[in-house]
Amino acid sequence: MSGGKAARLVTRAGAAADKPAAGASFATRLIAWQRTHGRHDLPWQGTRDAYRIWLSEIMLQQTQVSTVIPYYARFLDRFPDVAALAAAPVDAVLERWAGLGYYARARNLHRCALAVVVEHGGRFPQAPERIAELPGIGRSTAAAIAAFAFGARAAILDGNVKRVLARCFGIERYPGEAQTEREMWALAEALLPAAGIEAYTQGLMDLGATLCTRGKPRCEACPMRDICIARRDGRQDELPVAKPRKALPARTTGVLLFSDGERILLERRPPAGIWGGLLSLPEVPQATPEAAAALARRHGCRVLHTQALPALQHTFTHFKLTIAPLLCTVEPAARHAAESGWQWLPLATALDAGLPAPIRKLLAGG
Ligand code: ADE
Repeated sequence: MSGGKAARLVTRAGAAADKPAAGASFATRLIAWQRTHGRHDLPWQGTRDAYRIWLSEIMLQQTQVSTVIPYYARFLDRFPDVAALAAAPVDAVLERWAGLGYYARARNLHRCALAVVVEHGGRFPQAPERIAELPGIGRSTAAAIAAFAFGARAAILDGNVKRVLARCFGIERYPGEAQTEREMWALAEALLPAAGIEAYTQGLMDLGATLCTRGKPRCEACPMRDICIARRDGRQDELPVAKPRKALPARTTGVLLFSDGERILLERRPPAGIWGGLLSLPEVPQATPEAAAALARRHGCRVLHTQALPALQHTFTHFKLTIAPLLCTVEPAARHAAESGWQWLPLATALDAGLPAPIRKLLAGG
């Protein structure tokens, strides 16, 4: 590897990522593997036509190969070259795209074809930096087009490539983070071979798609099996590092467990909000004896005794809830809730009634 910024990338292997031998062997292994085990018969391979290569790369951005193949053929039937695409109305382009999803891609495709015709005389520019200036083409897609169409020595870095690099080089930081991403770009560039960029680029794509998959990677068949840090350390499931979770905001609430020894008091929750429409213990901002007395007045019963129960934790998608329950023993006479939406139920019936999970757990005794 030629040093530079890639050397700063923190890896589990210590400084291994900046050793020339590691870089050379990565590319050498990848190219040899691609030539014997990689994909060679995809419809966009075996051509240097930048239009066809560009079209495939755009279609493949968010869609898998097997889905793209029939769309690719039909699209080329209708728009065989960049001039035909630029001359067509955008609606005709959208029509051929229909079903592939992410329709901004189709609009940008049309805008890009116009730009190639109007600004570049109908020929795609060759430098990856110029290609990346065209509508809908990011840095990685530009590099793939430049490599496949013009043999340009440019680095790709999409989600699959990040996974391959994070595992192979033991990158211990979340790849979506800006600084890590910058360093991964530097690593991707430092790893590039002196020759064979097409097989190398295709090899990275093939490795990420067929062996170094997110779940169940097939490490035994991988050309990197002897140098891969994740495999060495058995950390394939942990690399790449997942997006750090934001700490969830914490809320607290109280619930009152009114019991007359046989039955408990439940309230039907309003349809909107958490546990919408479920029966649950009555909720109060704070589970205090005063709150219990107020609820008792409302239901014409008398509290004999209160006892705080251990708090429960429940995690929702957007916050953490701490639930403080207060057990309130009430006089047995209090059987019938006055208001609709309230029910006194035997404990066993309540447990069958579709309660919120933490409330059910509380009533079931933990
Ligand atoms: N995904 C993105 N580009 C690809 C290509 N050229 N071949 C296979 N899969 C891809």
